[in-house]
Amino acid sequence: MTAPPTAELMFREGGAPELRATFDVAQIAVGETARRMGVQGAEPAGASELEREWDRQRGLLEFIVLQPGGRYWLCEDEGEIVGYGRVCRFGEMEELTELMVLPSHQGRGIGRALLERCWPGDPSPEMGRVVVAAGAPADLSLYAGFGVMPTAGHWHLRVTTTLYQERRAREIDVAEPAVHALEALRAVKEWNRLEPPAIGHRRPRLHEFFSRTRTCLATMDEEMGHASALCWVGAHCDIGPAVAATPEELVPVVLAALDRVARSREPETFGVFCATDSWWVLRRLRGLGFQVHWPSWVMASLPLPGLDRYLPTRPPHLL
Ligand SMILES: CC(C)(COP(=O)(O)OP(=O)(O)OC[C@H]1O[C@@H](n2cnc3c(N)ncnc32)[C@H](O)[C@@H]1OP(=O)(O)O)[C@@H](O)C(=O)NCCC(=O)NCCS
Repeated sequence: MTAPPTAELMFREGGAPELRATFDVAQIAVGETARRMGVQGAEPAGASELEREWDRQRGLLEFIVLQPGGRYWLCEDEGEIVGYGRVCRFGEMEELTELMVLPSHQGRGIGRALLERCWPGDPSPEMGRVVVAAGAPADLSLYAGFGVMPTAGHWHLRVTTTLYQERRAREIDVAEPAVHALEALRAVKEWNRLEPPAIGHRRPRLHEFFSRTRTCLATMDEEMGHASALCWVGAHCDIGPAVAATPEELVPVVLAALDRVARSREPETFGVFCATDSWWVLRRLRGLGFQVHWPSWVMASLPLPGLDRYLPTRPPHLL
């Protein structure tokens, strides 16, 4: 067991005013884990990069902190925030969106003390738990004691835009179904139909939020008159989540999102998070030159029945 946190440390609940300070703590904590895990390009972000990332994540973080039934705990050392944990509740599932402790304060029991406040007691069939774990020994060991077990890998895959476009241009004989952009109300309705059987819980508010901030690409089952696959694409090259009726049908909608980002923003490199159960997408992305940038884990207390036809959210605070 790690030593219990010392007396100078103070735990209190956080709210919207602390969002920016805890975002900065997260960047430092995750950066250090990335360096330790040998993730490429893990040097500390400069001030302008940090601002860009804050701009990108701010909307989703503000949405998360406003959700009813969530928990947000801070740990302070002499008034400075040194760690925090946050849980967002969607119906019958509590998602741990972040658990972060500054490297200078790790290994002193703060992570465990925060988690005991964010996830008190045990999960149950009526109230499940899920987390995207960064994959370092510390967080994997810790979470396993709070009722969640590894369900699937969660791979951050990346490619350079040039390589992606070269390989994609060579796929001339691959027929792909038409992809449309769905109007907001229709998109939310389709998400509420296709997503719950894939992840085992409902997140209508999340999709209402995305319908205001992202575009929903879809392939349609013309005979049935509804969507066969859906993918949100954000203004900052954020692709996901995506969901489909079958694992195979996830591929065209994800590729359409990737094409759109590669064309419109021309970032030097770009990527997606892919559940390791979704072999159809994984195989296709490998063929297009994508490489594993950071392997993480989805851990949950209940089965997540259809991760083979689901592409996780970006940024990865939520599944
Ligand atoms: C994960 C993290 C929050 C843990 O915080 P912490 O304050 O160092 O954790 P604690 O001191 O409470 O240790 C908790 C448990 O982690 C495990 N642990 C800690 N360091 C470890 C190590 N180097 N190797 C293996 N296990 C370790 C132990 O099982 C410990 O359990 P114990 O209390 O039974 O000994 C922290 O390492 C961190 O901020 N990491 C970077 C951000 C991140 O990746 N967050 C998770 C994804 S959201």
